[in-house]
Amino acid sequence: MTNAAPKTIYLKDYAPFGWIIDDVHLTFRLHPTATRVISRIRVRPDYDVPSRPFMLHGEGLTHISAKVDGHDAVITEVDGGIEVDVPHAPFNWEAEVEINPEANTALEGLYMSNGMYCTQCEAEGFRKITWYPDRPDVMAQFTVRIESDADHTPVMLSNGNGLYYAQDNTQSPAPNVSIYQDPWPKPAYLFALVAGDLVAHEDKFTTMSGREVDLAIYVRPGDEHKCAFGMEALKKSMKWDEDVYGREYDLDEFNIVAVDDFNMGAMENKGLNIFNSSCVLASPETSTDGNFERIEAIIAHEYFHNWTGNRITCRDWFQLCLKEGLTVFRDAQFTADMRSEPVKRIDDVIALRARQFPEDQGPLSHPVRPESFQEINNFYTATVYEKGAEVIGMLKTLVGDEAYAKALDLYFDRHDGQACTIEDWITVFEDSTGRDLSQFKLWYSQSGTPTVSVREEYKDDTFTLHFSQSSAPTPGQDEKLPQVIPVAVGLLNDNGDEVLPTQIVELTQAEQSISFNGHATRPIPSVLRGFSAPVTLTQDIDNARRAFLLAHDTDAFNRWEAGRMLARDSLLSAIRTGAAPNADYLDGLKALLRDDSLDPAYRALMLAQPTQSELAGVLHQDGDTPDPATIHTASEAMRQAKADAFADILPDLYAANQVDGPFSPDAVAAGKRALANSALGLITKLDGGATAAKQYAKADNMTLQLASLSALLDADAGDDALQAFYDQWRDDRLVIDKWFSLQVMHAKPETLADTTARLTNHIDFDWKNPNRFRAVMGMLAAHHAGFHHESGAAYTLLAEWLIKLDPVNPQTTARMCSAFQTWKRYDADRQAKIATQLERIAAQPNLSRDTAEMISRIRGA
Ligand code: ARG
Ligand code: ZN
Repeated sequence: MTNAAPKTIYLKDYAPFGWIIDDVHLTFRLHPTATRVISRIRVRPDYDVPSRPFMLHGEGLTHISAKVDGHDAVITEVDGGIEVDVPHAPFNWEAEVEINPEANTALEGLYMSNGMYCTQCEAEGFRKITWYPDRPDVMAQFTVRIESDADHTPVMLSNGNGLYYAQDNTQSPAPNVSIYQDPWPKPAYLFALVAGDLVAHEDKFTTMSGREVDLAIYVRPGDEHKCAFGMEALKKSMKWDEDVYGREYDLDEFNIVAVDDFNMGAMENKGLNIFNSSCVLASPETSTDGNFERIEAIIAHEYFHNWTGNRITCRDWFQLCLKEGLTVFRDAQFTADMRSEPVKRIDDVIALRARQFPEDQGPLSHPVRPESFQEINNFYTATVYEKGAEVIGMLKTLVGDEAYAKALDLYFDRHDGQACTIEDWITVFEDSTGRDLSQFKLWYSQSGTPTVSVREEYKDDTFTLHFSQSSAPTPGQDEKLPQVIPVAVGLLNDNGDEVLPTQIVELTQAEQSISFNGHATRPIPSVLRGFSAPVTLTQDIDNARRAFLLAHDTDAFNRWEAGRMLARDSLLSAIRTGAAPNADYLDGLKALLRDDSLDPAYRALMLAQPTQSELAGVLHQDGDTPDPATIHTASEAMRQAKADAFADILPDLYAANQVDGPFSPDAVAAGKRALANSALGLITKLDGGATAAKQYAKADNMTLQLASLSALLDADAGDDALQAFYDQWRDDRLVIDKWFSLQVMHAKPETLADTTARLTNHIDFDWKNPNRFRAVMGMLAAHHAGFHHESGAAYTLLAEWLIKLDPVNPQTTARMCSAFQTWKRYDADRQAKIATQLERIAAQPNLSRDTAEMISRIRGA
């Protein structure tokens, strides 16, 4: 971590390691400040590739000793590790190093969280544990022996199957010894170790071939009652992957561990998934419906990685989307199957537009498969994950469900046990379908969000759609080639009947037309159904047409989209000209809300409107300079207009969607709560919080409690409830995260910075905990009108905290720098204020590689 010239790694420079690791034996003598790691590795030359120096990565290791075939090793330090003199023949490497888990605040490698040892090795954390070729194309079998003080670490886990657990009485004091063996070769990033005072919530799963697998979720004592939901989600995931992809689990045990200090959501380490506790612990009293759904999805995601990521892994980190895009796609399919397909699709598109579009439209834009990086942790992005999943979805749409299933079978068959590339993936589809996918592959290399424009023509019973596609320049890519864009299209008649069911129009050229013959009356097209491609659609249609589609579209996604676009255009007019909310929109929405044949979860999504940040993005795309204060006012006015226009139906809507009986987080009950809580938000605009106060008083689950507290804060009537909430939950870290977030979220734009600064002085603001830091600083950045308040106070506050966190935890700091990625959208004054903060961060001595790269990309330097 120095300011030495940053080193850029390029995809085009890939070279194989040159050596094959047959097996790895690791011994850990755990100690909070002085853990010894002894590694014994059997190595032989890879005769298929030109001979290469024997290079091992290592970072921050205290070297004790190293031997090659029993003789002291001759070592040369090189950038990022060591080179060792070795024979060009099979040999044994043996090394001992010391590391300090307690001092590891970066939470990468082996570290301590609340007295428990745990690891995070993806992407390049294993090199902080011992000397090793820390690259995903080196796969080896690991045997791990853990020794530790028996009192403090009764549980000691690693990957694979537990072989042995006992106290070793030949030593004094007698340590606990645990031995794990993983029969499946794996890259080092999938290594994991956990040791501590943990309790297990256990279960069993019988696989499709009849093998019994021991399942356990390990948590700190006191959290036992928060495991049941996660365990059910795990079993459902295991079953689903068998049923839908034919994939069976391959070890005798599968363990999940909850950790309080974790940089990301969770990690798919072979047989030992490690989770941010916020992504696995759940109870009705402490978790919202949204938490339950997210937990189910993340458990599925990490479990699905066992095949898409672990059995078949990535050759190098440029191929990250190979495992992440596919696994996100798979977890989305799972959620759609467990819950509601249209609701999941709408949720995902909302998230894509909120997180991936801004990334792709700003200075951080990069291809789904990046071609260079300085710090790979900076590329665990919405583009790699979510756009990566969209690309898989398009591929499936283009080849069809059956061909997709066949291709996946071939992929697993052909590449099991290998470290692969996007080329391998594409070739599997070409071989199994006979299609030429070279143009489709541009989705992996061209960055930016394409725009698709569509124009209609109707003549002599023929209806024609004229499409054009284009893509704005992005960093490093001035010119774009036309991409393969599957556009799902259906046609309706004036009565709203479908006269042409959904078809896939395959765009491959800059301009392309498609005609539909034999239409005696002019049909009404529904374009980009199901959001069949991650593009921006521009269509010259008026409000009346949108209102028609809102009432009649037979595609659930496009029906929602019609309402979303009406809301958006109404808000844009309000922002630009002060226009009143569009009556067509309010009327159409009202009719929908009343329609009890529609899923409440779907209606709740209908009631929401584009976020202020999304509106700012659209204004910017249209060549305007967004003013955050005006956007805020217009958004609030729209909510008030809805409350007024729906005043007569809101009480019924609220009452009809109450859920009685014991709490269940299932999709139907959650959907009703979502709709009731959305109604409550509007009711609060009319009754000043009276209904919300009643709900708060009797709430017996977090979904109801949080929604009513939120409504009260919105009405400036939440002070007492806020205090009561704190008193009730002060000992529950995950709930206190919510308590912090809520206050930031509901601050007035002009006092956001002060409110946030005050919260950072709170005794519970444990800023070294990533969840807590994000609960406050993440929300600060997410508060559009407050973060971009003209004073610039929030910019300064965030920059101060990023500067403070960077030496402690570069990864979390770097991720949060993206709060500034949209800075070029705004006026010169705001840009200047942000530029000052970016410069200030950049000027810090010893800035981490992570943060330095992010800031320089954001500045466009
Ligand atoms: N592979 C993990 C997942 O998708 C994410 C781990 C990323 N960690 C990191 N430090 N970049 O579930
Ligand atoms: Zn993943």
